[in-house]
Amino acid sequence: MANEGPALRQRLEEIRRRGVEAFGAVSTREELEAARVEFLGRSGLVSEAMSRLRGLPAEERPETGQAGNRVKRELESLLEARLSEISAAESGDTGTAPTDLTLPGRRRWTGSVHPVTRVIDEVCEIFREIGFTIAAGPEIESDWHNFTALNIPLDHPAADMHDTFYVDDGVLLRTHTSPVQVRVMLEHEPPVRVLVPGLAFRRDPWDASHAPAFEQIEGLAVDEGIDFVEFRAAIDFFVHSFFGPGTRTRFRPSYFPFTEPSAEVDVTCFLCDGSGCATCKNTGWVEIMGSGMVNPAVFESVGYDPERFTGYAFGMGPARIAMLRYRIPDIRMLYEGDIAFLGQFA
Ligand code: DAH
Repeated sequence: MANEGPALRQRLEEIRRRGVEAFGAVSTREELEAARVEFLGRSGLVSEAMSRLRGLPAEERPETGQAGNRVKRELESLLEARLSEISAAESGDTGTAPTDLTLPGRRRWTGSVHPVTRVIDEVCEIFREIGFTIAAGPEIESDWHNFTALNIPLDHPAADMHDTFYVDDGVLLRTHTSPVQVRVMLEHEPPVRVLVPGLAFRRDPWDASHAPAFEQIEGLAVDEGIDFVEFRAAIDFFVHSFFGPGTRTRFRPSYFPFTEPSAEVDVTCFLCDGSGCATCKNTGWVEIMGSGMVNPAVFESVGYDPERFTGYAFGMGPARIAMLRYRIPDIRMLYEGDIAFLGQFA
């Protein structure tokens, strides 16, 4: 008969459709097995239809045979998919490996305070005890605040030394936190006692002891009658609180345009107690800050009466202090964000 082939293919399509429906409807292993026997079993519907191939005219066989194989493969893969869905549902498994309750618990990651932040917090806390408040200023600064008002003429070598990342004409990333002194004094009448933690930026190399962006802590005290004795007393109070009561302080003459006189403050090396080690390069002393009595020229920039007011100022690098305290050999380690390293200071 001429249309036996098409009739059989139609029959196969019908089996396919009913099979898809039947496999889709089962919800237990038993129902699935019954559907398998009905459609894919040795004498199931697919086999039965395929056995009729032999009766077809030779030219109808290949196409019909292929159609039969496609139907068989489709139903077989459907059977497999349904089988794994039913097994998963039976074991209450959501697709992940079974939980092993005997495994040790997972350590909870808690984070920690960065060593530089820790130093900043401690320094602020100590100065708070002697009446300092905390102030802040912009990281993008005018060259007037950054240099001129601090008695650093723009053509002065000190400005050169700092010459750095200009954002625009007369606008730069501040090279130190000292311009915040100027901003505070412009806004407040004395008495002033402020501490200014913040970032500073310089055209410095990125090496073991330099970073182009680094923290500073600025200090400023202005009032009537502040003298060098009060200045020393404040610094000693800080040094004893921070490094320990046995620590001694040394003021070494230095130069900063915004202080007169100026001094570098050294403390006895807190690692070797002054007897000499690698940290203090065998000198027994480590430098912790620049400082001095506020230069009257700075008071003039901000409109304070230099005849009436005096004060002291200082600036320190908390990263350097953290390096000394925690014996960190390379400043870059503080800024690379290596959690395994930073986590040690928790
Ligand atoms: N601004 C100085 C610097 O970045 C540090 C400094 C020195 C700040 C002496 C001061 C000071 O307030 O009195 O190198």
